[in-house]
Parts: sequence; structure tokens; C-alpha cells
Amino acid sequence: MTLSLKGAKILKDLSIKDIRVLQMVETLLKRGEYAPFEKIALYSGFREKDVDIMISRLHKFKLLQRWKGHYVGYTLTFAGHDALALNALYNKKAVYGVGREKAVGKESDIYYAIDFEENEVIIKINRTGRPSFQHIKKKRDFLDGKFHYSIFFLAAVSAHREYTILSKLQKSKLSIPKIVNYNRHIIVMEPIPGIELVNFKYLKNPTKVLKKTIEFEKKLYKDYQLIHGDLTEYNILYDENGEKITIIDFPQAIPSDHPEAMNFLSRDFEHLFDFFGKKWSISMELESVIDYITKK
Ligand SMILES: Nc1ncnc2c1ncn2[C@@H]1O[C@H](COP(=O)(O)OP(=O)(O)OP(=O)(O)O)[C@@H](O)[C@H]1O
Ligand SMILES: [Mg+2]
Repeated sequence: MTLSLKGAKILKDLSIKDIRVLQMVETLLKRGEYAPFEKIALYSGFREKDVDIMISRLHKFKLLQRWKGHYVGYTLTFAGHDALALNALYNKKAVYGVGREKAVGKESDIYYAIDFEENEVIIKINRTGRPSFQHIKKKRDFLDGKFHYSIFFLAAVSAHREYTILSKLQKSKLSIPKIVNYNRHIIVMEPIPGIELVNFKYLKNPTKVLKKTIEFEKKLYKDYQLIHGDLTEYNILYDENGEKITIIDFPQAIPSDHPEAMNFLSRDFEHLFDFFGKKWSISMELESVIDYITKK
């Protein structure tokens, strides 16, 4: 299997001690923008000389980024954070190896992986905070000054939210990915057959696909008091063979009693009707669909 994710590729070259040092940096980042070298050495319990060698290697592998100011400090890189999460998922026996990239989403990277029984699984690596500086800045403000750790923290919060929502929905008959595990900013799922709706030029019965999507949102709303919130042609996977839709991408799902809930619900369908209208000339009345979903 070709390994293309840096944090995964490097994992086999890391010792337990290396991982311990990375974890120490992660912990110290909760307190300051950079983890001071001296503290990493002190708290890891290893000899300063050994820590120095380990840190140099981790830095060379680009799992750590060095900062020199009035002290020397380190922060994790995305690859360093990935390595920590993948190491944990390996120890949990959830992910044995990572394969090629499957997709780059808005705020995540999706990779093929295998579990310990050699089944194919999908890992979704949350990259909240990556898109644009503006975006990051806004989120930083929102975090009330917890700048340093915010990128990793936000990614983990988002992944955890998606994991929690999907876990809650596992017993429902809703067509969603089966969730397997999670750690930090990575969730592990079973692969879904089919491809994004946006990629179909021709559909045998587009109205049926739209109706299935409406039924999905209705069940989600009625039985789980949730609104998907990003119901787009990118988040509906369609399997032509089984004529089955699967809805993915849940970190932004919101509870139906949220003050903006109705706006989110309308927005979901405004967008979808626009897409189905332009592509397959299907029209439905927004208001009656919203009524159908929300009325008892
Ligand atoms: N379980 C899965 N099985 C197969 N393909 C998947 C699975 N999960 C995600 N994908 C693929 O990865 C793409 C991106 O996934 P997803 O929509 O969950 O992330 P995203 O758009 O980056 O989401 P967000 O903006 O919330 O981070 C999907 O369009 C789909 O092609
Ligand atoms: Mg998506």
C-alpha cells in the first residue's frame, strides 16, 4: 500500500519516546503559543540530551516547528498532530495503515485506510482553521485569546461533534456512514458506495433522489431533532446500483430548537431545489416541503 499521508508515513520510524515528546508538546501548547524546550525536557522525564536529539529528529521530520524568541519553543505541525491521532487510533486497533487520498473536502482531508482485519475504512481528518487567514482569525477571536492551540483544538472539537452526532444516529435507519472510531481531529468510518450527486450527468429518476433526501431530513428532524445544515450535492452520495443515497458530513448539524434552525432548514432546501432545478428541471415548493418536514 502506498503511504501518502505524512503523519502516517513517519509513524513507523517513531519510538514510544518520540511519541511521548510529541504528546508533551501538545499538552504544553494548551498553555502557551510554543512549548518551551526546557519544559518539554522536564515534564517528559527524559534526559535533556536525549530530548534534544529526539526533538531534532521530530523537527527534521517536520512534525514539529521551531520558534526562537526569548526562549526556544516548539509547536506541532499538521503532520505532527496527525501522527499523534493516528498513533492513538493504531493503539486502539482501529487503523492499521493509511492509504491514498480520497478527497479534499472544504475543511477536511479524506483518506483510504485499513483496519486490523484488513477491511477498508475511511478516515476524515478535520482541518478546521486551514482555509484562510481571515477565517482563522475570526475563529481565534471566538476562542477568546487561546490562539496557539486553537487550530488543533477547533479541528478536534469539530471531529468530536461529528463523531457524537453520527454515533447517536447509528441505530436509526437513516442512511449515514457507519462510524468506527475517533481520536483528536480524525474520525474513522466505513466506506460508502457511490459518489457525490454533483458528479452525475444523468440520473434515472432524479425526483426519487430528491424525495429520498426530503424523507431523510424529515426523519432527522422528527426523530432526532436535528437539521443537517449543509445538505448539498457534495454531501449526498448516490449509488446507482442500489439506487441508494447516503448523507455525509455532519459537524455543522444543528438542533431543531436552535433560534436559527428554520433558516438553516430553508437554506438546505433552497440550495438543493436550485441544484435539482438547474440540473434536472425539477421544481418543488419550498414552503410546502418545510411544512411537510416540520409539521406533526
Ligand atoms: N464514509 C465515506 N465513504 C466514502 N467517501 C467519503 C466518506 N466520507 C467522506 N467521503 C468523501 O470525502 C468527501 C469529503 O467529505 P465530507 O463532506 O465529510 O468533508 P468536508 O466537505 O470537508 O466537510 P467539512 O466541511 O464538514 O469538513 C466527500 O464528498 C466524499 O467524497
Ligand atoms: Mg462535504
